[in-house]
Amino acid sequence: MADNTKGRRDFMGMALGGFTALGGIGALYAMKRTWDPLPSVKAAGFTTIDVSAAQENVLNVEKWRGKPIFVLKKSKDMKPDDRDVIVGSDRFLVAVGLCTHLGCIPAYAADEHKFKCACHGGEFDASGHQIFGPPPSPLEIPPFKVEGTKVVLGEEGPEYKKMKEAGLTA
Ligand code: FES
Repeated sequence: MADNTKGRRDFMGMALGGFTALGGIGALYAMKRTWDPLPSVKAAGFTTIDVSAAQENVLNVEKWRGKPIFVLKKSKDMKPDDRDVIVGSDRFLVAVGLCTHLGCIPAYAADEHKFKCACHGGEFDASGHQIFGPPPSPLEIPPFKVEGTKVVLGEEGPEYKKMKEAGLTA
């Protein structure tokens, strides 16, 4: 009888241990959320986005460390810029989606290739440069690394380091 109880307790302990381990993995590798338009995987501190299915001039909003991240595939008629993130033969704007004036989230006007901030009328072009109103600086570029067709947010790859050294990320 006593042995049986012990056995059951051991089993419960193992089951709980397994549950905790699974919970930990779940927290580290949360699956793609329904509102993510591009396939992405979130792990502690990193967001990996597969941009191979991105459509030109369609804004995708990802999430990284609690911040919205704009991912915009540039069309051929958009001016190339030193801040572009190059994946294969495509150019992307990858930027923190917070206005550099007071932190509102600008909306993308696809027909004008512009981001417009409703708070005080600030505007940014498709490369994230401020072009109108009070924003004092371009949209910030988060640390990133390009891996094949994926962009890993939160890791400083050589492309990001080069931009940072040139003073282009903020
Ligand atoms: S917060 Fe965007 S213009 Fe002021």
